[in-house]
Amino acid sequence: MSAVVRSVVTGVGAYLPENVVTNHDLSKIVDTNDEWIMARTGIHKRHKAADDQAVSDLAVEAARNALADAGKTPHDVDLIVVATTTPDLTFPATAAIVQRKLGCNVGIAFDVQAVCSGFVFAMTVADGFVARGHAKCALVIGAETMTRLMDWTDRGTCVLFGDGAGAVVLEPGEGQGTNADRGLIGFALRTDGTKQDLLYVDGGPSTTGTVGKLRMQGNQVFRHAVINISEAVVAAAAHAGVDVADVDWFIPHQANQRILAGVAHRLGIDEKKVISTVAEHANTSAASIPLALAEGIADGRVKRGDLLLMEAMGGGLTWGACVVRL
Ligand code: UT7
Repeated sequence: MSAVVRSVVTGVGAYLPENVVTNHDLSKIVDTNDEWIMARTGIHKRHKAADDQAVSDLAVEAARNALADAGKTPHDVDLIVVATTTPDLTFPATAAIVQRKLGCNVGIAFDVQAVCSGFVFAMTVADGFVARGHAKCALVIGAETMTRLMDWTDRGTCVLFGDGAGAVVLEPGEGQGTNADRGLIGFALRTDGTKQDLLYVDGGPSTTGTVGKLRMQGNQVFRHAVINISEAVVAAAAHAGVDVADVDWFIPHQANQRILAGVAHRLGIDEKKVISTVAEHANTSAASIPLALAEGIADGRVKRGDLLLMEAMGGGLTWGACVVRL
């Protein structure tokens, strides 16, 4: 094998807004209860951004933490990719706002919109720059204020989502072109636009001229989730040249504990290898994977050199997985 440039994760950071909303809190505004939410989703609570916090504020906090972890400053950053479905404004991109707020030098900054799969898509997009020598210090951020898209009269959706942000720093590192290399070593991305009616927001600048509210046929999405995610996991592992059984930690999108368990069961994965934050964070869309990664590192489970598999499915439908050796 010959030498190759890999996109290596050198820093990880997270941020969760202070305000916590419990299932009990929600039972006061819609016809629901803690027992139903826990049994059907595994969610216990979620964080909610303050009224004066924009998604870029959450992203900036996570980015600062990731940069500190990597031993970098905003002046080192030459690429920012923000995965979000809840941007501050229709334009400019939230990434450009994050760049300004961090005080970065002029570089490349743009958003990626793949809803809950956004972080996986953004990692592969950033890899395209880092591995080809166009960026030396990239921030890949998943940041969401999903609570702003909720219809607070719809108990089928408003109990499921939360706000937060997670970020990684990617830097180029020399690899040997094998699956022992540190960095992003394989991925699989998918979109099926024919199923967009299952999960979407019913507004937008060129249709209603409004932001809109999230609409979901939850049980239909659930049916696709386990099958689609499992297929992407197998494809990403094959692309990386690893066996699913060799993966040290699965870092999934946190939509529903039953989906995490279903994928683990289908692929014969020990559930002890699955990092789950769904009870504490709920579904934070594009932020959920980097938030789970940060938690796994902070509590000492996930260590440098471990083989990680990140996977997600969301509106679009989009889904995908990527394999990273930390
Ligand atoms: O991140 C993007 C991807 N999103 C997902 O992966 C979400 C996938 N879907 C899910 O996680 C699950 O489908 C849900 C958690 C959304 C719903 O669970 P479910 O087991 O599929 O329930 P259901 O939608 O089939 O509803 C069952 C019952 C219904 O009542 P009836 O018609 O049987 O009388 C609902 O009205 O549960 C009722 N229900 C609730 N009850 C109490 C729905 N939401 C609630 C609620 N509290 N919050």
